[in-house]
Amino acid sequence: MFTPATSTPRGLAAAAGCCRRSLSVHHHHHQARPLSAAAAATATAATAPPPFPPAEPLPNAAPPLPAGTRIVLPTPDDWHLHLRDGAAMASVAPHTAMHFKRAVVMPNLSPQPVTTVAAAREYRARIGAALERAAQGVERGEEEGGGSGGVGLVALSGGASSSSPQSVAARLRAFEPLMTLYLTDATPVSEVEAAAEASAEAAAAAAAGNGGGGGGGGGGGNAPPVSIAAFKLYPAGATTNSSQGVTGDLSKALPAIRAMAKSGIPLCVHGEVTRGEVDVFDREAFFLRERLAPLLDAVPDLRVVLEHITTEDAAEFVLKHGSGGRIAATVTPQHMLLNRNALLVGGVRPHAYCLPVLKRERHRAAVLRAATLPASEGGGRFFLGTDSAPHPKHAKECACGCAGVYSAPAALALYAHAFEQAGALEDGRFAAFCSRNGAAFYRRPVNQGTVALVKKQQGSGWRVPESFEFGEGTVVPMWAGQELSWCVEEVKA
Ligand code: DOR
Ligand code: ZN
Repeated sequence: MFTPATSTPRGLAAAAGCCRRSLSVHHHHHQARPLSAAAAATATAATAPPPFPPAEPLPNAAPPLPAGTRIVLPTPDDWHLHLRDGAAMASVAPHTAMHFKRAVVMPNLSPQPVTTVAAAREYRARIGAALERAAQGVERGEEEGGGSGGVGLVALSGGASSSSPQSVAARLRAFEPLMTLYLTDATPVSEVEAAAEASAEAAAAAAAGNGGGGGGGGGGGNAPPVSIAAFKLYPAGATTNSSQGVTGDLSKALPAIRAMAKSGIPLCVHGEVTRGEVDVFDREAFFLRERLAPLLDAVPDLRVVLEHITTEDAAEFVLKHGSGGRIAATVTPQHMLLNRNALLVGGVRPHAYCLPVLKRERHRAAVLRAATLPASEGGGRFFLGTDSAPHPKHAKECACGCAGVYSAPAALALYAHAFEQAGALEDGRFAAFCSRNGAAFYRRPVNQGTVALVKKQQGSGWRVPESFEFGEGTVVPMWAGQELSWCVEEVKA
């Protein structure tokens, strides 16, 4: 679908590094498993069970809105995204750029995470170059078919009014990656200061009208200034490519964290402890008590985003400590829509496996409730962060599958589905979650464009493809093979 990135050999290796397994090992065998009726009905995967369980209404769901309902919101941003690198990145970045104006790009590349401003500048340039190549491909009319049973960008781009090659190419070029740096035990205070300086330069350039979008970085020339939106704290060993993360009680990283507080750079936190005796389903709650509460006490001016919250404990923690804009949280579509049954009932479904892992229903309900609270009750502290985390199909469907749900192509429609069921779609809460709250936390303007979603009649929605091209392989998206009733109908610059 896209020409591979030039000169970056990492590509798939970057995406699959979690599993300590050679990428040359492919798993082509299909295991015999009992077929459910739903699986048998899946047109293109008649021999395999569905990657995600068939969607049922959530417990206590509000009545569905009528077909034809239209929602318009300021162009949203994705405040937590994994883009990988190389050819894999070139495959997935356009999917996000179709619906989102900006995204906070995670730094956990493999083998070398993004730990310096210089590395972030180069990574940002590679993303811009890949989007520019994709834009040129669209202008040459190359994006229609798509490979691997997937679809071309045009199918993702919105209705007729938004799918002209010019509109698609313009959005690819306008996409703005906001970079993050990977915090380690050894991050020097000087790197934090360099990040603050680079971001101030980028803001000044943007104010002067030459901040640039995602594109334009194709061939040589001066790299545009890079905005470092945040540092990312991975407890060492907690998740994909986190081995160089912060160890133990975080004390080694404390000087750098204090410098962040001083210069106003937020810290994005993967909130899980890693001790073997703590149950994987309890790791978030332990982190809040053992690590995050003491950190907030120790560094009172620190601004924290608790990423991809999964528990009632996390929702309550953010509501309790969030006044004054100190702490906010991102919420993924899977943690709003799925509980841990999605992983285990009817067979193991590795495409629903991510970290922090899905939790029991009580927690899912609490996370959805928090994310859909009105601003007057603290809802303004929760915002959209997909944690879209693609891995090659073969690295998910194997004996030790990688953690990560690839939600980017369907994310906006999935969030709409969740908000509809919470009865929170039409009164401004959805627009706040998607387009306003994150911008406010990160002290950036709300985007000027708009995105319109429309609810389709059952049977005429968008059937999410079984897979998309992903570098040299494929990736299975969230909701693969299932229909979504909310469709992006129009995207206006
Ligand atoms: O499921 C996850 N996948 N959780 C993370 O924290 C990292 C991500 C990835 O990079 O694959
Ligand atoms: Zn993530």
